[in-house]
Order: sequence, then structure tokens, then C-alpha cells
Amino acid sequence: MNLSWLLGGGHRNTKIREEPTPVGQDAFSDVAPFYDELMAAVPYRSWVDYVESILKRVGHEPRDVLDLCCGTGQVGAEMARRGYSVVGVDLSEGMVRRCERRDPPLPAAVMDATNLALKADSFDLVVSLYDSLNYIVEPEGLQRCFQGVWHALRPGGLMIFDLNTERALRIGLFTQDNVSTTEPLMYQWKSNWDGERQLCRVDMKFKWRGPGEKCEFHETHYERAYEEEDVREWLARAGMETLHVFDAYTFRSPGSFANRVYYVARKLKVD
Ligand SMILES: C[S@@+](CC[C@H](N)C(=O)[O-])C[C@H]1O[C@@H](n2cnc3c(N)ncnc32)[C@H](O)[C@@H]1O
Repeated sequence: MNLSWLLGGGHRNTKIREEPTPVGQDAFSDVAPFYDELMAAVPYRSWVDYVESILKRVGHEPRDVLDLCCGTGQVGAEMARRGYSVVGVDLSEGMVRRCERRDPPLPAAVMDATNLALKADSFDLVVSLYDSLNYIVEPEGLQRCFQGVWHALRPGGLMIFDLNTERALRIGLFTQDNVSTTEPLMYQWKSNWDGERQLCRVDMKFKWRGPGEKCEFHETHYERAYEEEDVREWLARAGMETLHVFDAYTFRSPGSFANRVYYVARKLKVD
């Protein structure tokens, strides 16, 4: 599918990075071919059920949907199977290329969420799941992202996104491995929390030990924690009203033990 209708002016393809991941850059180029295998246990369908339950709760019936930071397109393709018209954007060319392999293929483009170049008033819903926006490590970047989403949404349109909380990043949930299993893709991740910068660095080692050529690679991912108060303020500044903040997969407000929260924001209608 030709995505040119979607793109506003000024869009440039982001080049694939080949050497160690600088903070805030495409950190997924090496892992992209293995991403779906790595996420095999992730309940994407339930996540989309949850998004739909939020839509029902707020009485919103979207048609055109943007999967922001779509990765390999798991969320977007699931929504397309349910009848929405979906396109995706992601910083990583490697991830975007995998979107073609979805059933149905998800039309997707390489684009930086902090510098969105989308046509105005194109979407009824923007979704961004799986801590994607934590990967935006500069507050100014997240604010630009909200401004870009506002521009792309139709008046009254919704943005639904999740964020890992400071707690989740601080307590080391990303320190994990599967070395004691026989999974073909072996991983060992170690996370480090920098409270001053509110930044979690995760050093990731991967080893392919399945059929075919063996390979090994390392990636470094950075996620930033954001305070609810700031997120609400930046959404408001961008012209969006925060309707709800939920403890993930519930309709409760997040307590101090929440690891992931969902934001539901609406583009204000201009009279
Ligand atoms: C943890 S993955 C989640 C992918 C997908 N949303 C999912 O649910 O599988 C985070 C994604 O965010 C993308 N990403 C990170 N920073 C980005 C940015 N500034 N602009 C666009 N995409 C970004 C990464 O390339 C990656 O595909």
C-alpha cells in the first residue's frame, strides 16, 4: 500500500543504525527479525480487547487508527482483523519491515514519534502500547509527540497509550533471562536504574541457538519514567484532555504498586 496520503511534509526516512545504540535512538534493528519469537507469550489479543473495552466505556467508535511505535505490527494487525482501518509508524526500519508479514499485512512507515509528519485530522484513534513511549527519553520529545498526535487526530479523537511506571523501571523488572530453557533465542537482560535521570538502561544479550546459522548480538535499551502529573500537563498543553488514567488492564486508578498505566486522552474540539 502506498502511504504517501498519510505523510505530511518534511518526512525523512530514518537510517538503520549499525553500531551501539545511543540513548533515544533506534534500539531494535538487530532484534527485529526475532522480535515476534521473543514476544510469543505476549497476550496482544487481550490487550486489544482491553483497548476496545476502554473505547466502549468512553463511547468512542473509531474507524481510522494509527498504531504509533507499531513495532512489528502485532497490535495494529489485530485491530485490522477486527475491522479498523489501521496504519503504523515506528522509528525502526527493521521493525517496520516485519509489518508486511502480518496477516493482514500492516501498512507502516518509518517515522520518529517525536517528529511526526502526518496529515492533519486523519485518525479517530492513536494507540501506542507496550511501553513504547517510555523509549522517548527526553521530556521535550514526549511533548512533541503529543503535539504531533494532536495534529493527526480528528477533533474528538482519542489517544490511548501505556507507560511503564517509575516503580517498574526502578525495581528491575527487566533483569531477566531464559538461559535455563531450550528456547532457540536465548536472552540475558540486565537493567540499571538511574534515579537522577529517571532512566532505566537495559543491557541485552541475545544468542540464536536454533536451526541455521548461529548468531549473537547485544542491544542497549533506555526507558524513561514519567510522572502522571507531567504527562497530564503535557497532554493538556498539546490540546488533549486526559479522560482516564488506569492501572493497566483494569478500570482502577493506579496505586503505588502499579507497574504499567494506561492513559486515555481526547483531542479537544475547537469551536
Ligand atoms: C517495546 S517495542 C513495542 C512495539 C509494539 N508497540 C508492540 O506492542 O509490540 C517499542 C517500539 O517503539 C519504537 N520506538 C522507540 N522510540 C521511538 C520513536 N522515537 N519513534 C517511533 N518509534 C519508536 C521501537 O522501534 C519499538 O518498535
